[in-house]
Amino acid sequence: TGYITYDPGFVNTGSTSSAITYIDGDAGILRYRGYPIEQLAEHSSFIEVSYLLIYGELPTATQLEEFTQKINRHTLLHEDLKRFFDGFPRDAHPMPVLSSAVSALSTFYQDSLNPFDEPNVELSTVRLLAKVPTLAAYAYKKSIGQPFLYPDNSLGLVENFLRMTFGLPAEPYEIDPEVAKALDLLFILHADHEQNCSTSTVRLVGSSEANLFASISAGIMALFGPLHGGANSAVLEMLDGIKASGGNVSEFVNRVKNKEKGVRLMGFGHRVYKNYDPRAKIIKATADRILNKLGVNDELLDIAKTLEETALSDDYFVERKLYPNVDFYTGLIYRALGFPTKYFTVLFALGRLPGWIAHWREMINDPATKIGRPRQIYTGEKQRDYSPISER
Ligand code: CMC
Repeated sequence: TGYITYDPGFVNTGSTSSAITYIDGDAGILRYRGYPIEQLAEHSSFIEVSYLLIYGELPTATQLEEFTQKINRHTLLHEDLKRFFDGFPRDAHPMPVLSSAVSALSTFYQDSLNPFDEPNVELSTVRLLAKVPTLAAYAYKKSIGQPFLYPDNSLGLVENFLRMTFGLPAEPYEIDPEVAKALDLLFILHADHEQNCSTSTVRLVGSSEANLFASISAGIMALFGPLHGGANSAVLEMLDGIKASGGNVSEFVNRVKNKEKGVRLMGFGHRVYKNYDPRAKIIKATADRILNKLGVNDELLDIAKTLEETALSDDYFVERKLYPNVDFYTGLIYRALGFPTKYFTVLFALGRLPGWIAHWREMINDPATKIGRPRQIYTGEKQRDYSPISER
């Protein structure tokens, strides 16, 4: 019925109006609730940015204190949920484990099922912000066979996550403030990016009036793919591959330009940015600083820089306006902080969580929201008659 616009990948389709994040892709501008990402990166904290994205304004000191305390009260997992991790193989990828665990929250908190019950949406918001870092740390502990640590609620969100990830029950864990600061900054830079694949997934699932946990579990799986959040792991694998083959950057760039099947310059290109990704700019500077401070000398950083330089001066990339995106340098920092490659996308999920929550809440409260239900152009058979199996 009526006229259907054909737009694969939704390149030109506005699926919603939104007041959360502004991007000008040609100018390389990113703002959360009007605040430039550069200012937030320099002055704010991940918890404050989470508040800003979800509630629309920067918190007062009292509001921030209350928000932090509420989150701290909910960091523990139900003891039965801890056993959930035993059902997965030791070498399981942590992204599906995390998504399943978030999905399971719906079974522990059945008070969350009505998406219009505002006090419970508030509770689910706090539960997610508090428990997802615990779930993420346990997915890691499970993969290396170490015991789970209970959260220590005297610590900040990022510090608590670091301790649960890298600490051991038998010895005190000293949090390196440089490490905590770097991770906090990376979380700020990942916190929202308007209608990307995972956020659109969260909104689409939520438009059926599925609850916050169900919608975010789906968003985590959308983020898993290598063209989206999975790119941060894929970049490291690409850099490792270049190193293993003798560090020949131009040879690799030629393979990309020849469009060899499955070979892309990972961490490059973006649907919206046709200019340097402002997040990548900050991350590149941070990678230098952090690796220096931690005394890490990583050959892969040099390979990444040469790769960037080679690409940015090559017609193939210039003509297509392909620049480094957020994922190009993050992996090098995560690696320097001690995270295994397989785990990088989980860190992206932790950072993106407040953005997903903010979008789900905006969607559910928007009177213009209808169930997401795209149309199609049918290209199959015309009507034909059923034939008995003996005649086929
Ligand atoms: N390496 C080589 N060529 C590329 C790349 C790349 N990374 N990205 C785009 N192109 C080419 C593409 O082949 C096409 O060329 P042609 O016109 O000759 O066919 C042209 O540039 C336009 O690309 P597209 O695929 O139509 O662009 P898109 O908007 O559909 O895709 C993208 C965007 C991010 C999926 C893509 O750039 C890509 O695959 N990048 C590598 C994966 C990556 O880094 N993803 C992370 C994105 S940022 C963070 C996030 O969202 O998680």
